[in-house]
Amino acid sequence: MFDYSVKLKNLKLKNPVIAASGTFGYGEELNDFFPVENLGALSTKGLSLKPRLGNPMPRIIETPSGMINAIGLQNVGVEAFLEKKLPLLEKRQVTVIANIFGNTLEEYIEIAKILESSSVAAIELNISCPNVKAGGMEFGNDPKMAAVVTEEVRKVFSRHLMVKLSPNVTSIVEIAKKVEAAGADSLSLINTVTAMVINTQSKKPMIANGVGGLSGPAIRPIAVRMVAQTYQAVKIPIVGIGGITELNDILEFMIAGAAAIQIGTSNFTKPKIAQELIDQLQNHLKTEGLSSPQELVGTLEGF
Ligand SMILES: Cc1cc2nc3c(=O)[nH]c(=O)nc-3n(C[C@H](O)[C@H](O)[C@H](O)COP(=O)(O)O)c2cc1C
Repeated sequence: MFDYSVKLKNLKLKNPVIAASGTFGYGEELNDFFPVENLGALSTKGLSLKPRLGNPMPRIIETPSGMINAIGLQNVGVEAFLEKKLPLLEKRQVTVIANIFGNTLEEYIEIAKILESSSVAAIELNISCPNVKAGGMEFGNDPKMAAVVTEEVRKVFSRHLMVKLSPNVTSIVEIAKKVEAAGADSLSLINTVTAMVINTQSKKPMIANGVGGLSGPAIRPIAVRMVAQTYQAVKIPIVGIGGITELNDILEFMIAGAAAIQIGTSNFTKPKIAQELIDQLQNHLKTEGLSSPQELVGTLEGF
């Protein structure tokens, strides 16, 4: 019997394809292109305790094989999400992963507490955020801070806890191990890579914020390398993210060790891409005679 579902510990997905945070909104707009409930899951735009307007414009620029964004985590805030956005997703029976972030440890805990009494299936902890109480250093750039935020959210959120790792670190493996030990159920990687583009006429950065996060196919080989290295170091499931545009990219991530994947930037150029890849992956597994996507995971040789 063919089983297309994926189990990330206590989180069951109908297929391994997840819409990445910040590239799929809250599912409303993309629902015009395909039924969003067909996704394995939808990771929401990052949610904060209070609504945020984000950074000044320009905050997006196209780059070779990718884009840089510095949206500044604009979002409606967790309360408005629960009141105005989640009901539609509930009605359509979408598996919802709430991507969250805070400027302090207390904010992370508060949001997680609020979500505990909601219907979301999981939290994805975005730790690529400056900790204002630690001089603005990102939670995800310091193994100790990454572990503390994971541990504290773990205490107040009983369902699936996915922690999203930043690639802008010396050793992603070290952070992954600390976060696993602190109680994460799974790891998603990678978030965007810090980058800059300069206008040579004005001699100013093209993005108002100065720097932004690079995403798209340009970062895929970095992400695949990080998934392969992390897979060797942890026991919890890994969700691969970075520049996925076609079936072969998904296969690459799975062979490297990803039990599921997320599609981000490609949603902007091809809004139906997730549905297309869900169908293509299913056909591929059947053609290859595999009974589940799990059979591909971590089959990398010679590394
Ligand atoms: C416009 C934009 C907004 C994003 N917003 C978030 C966010 O709110 N929270 C988060 O964890 N990641 C966010 N990301 C990162 C993506 O979820 C993903 O990790 C990254 O873009 C790499 O995947 P990709 O190359 O498929 O886009 C955002 C990415 C883009 C391009």
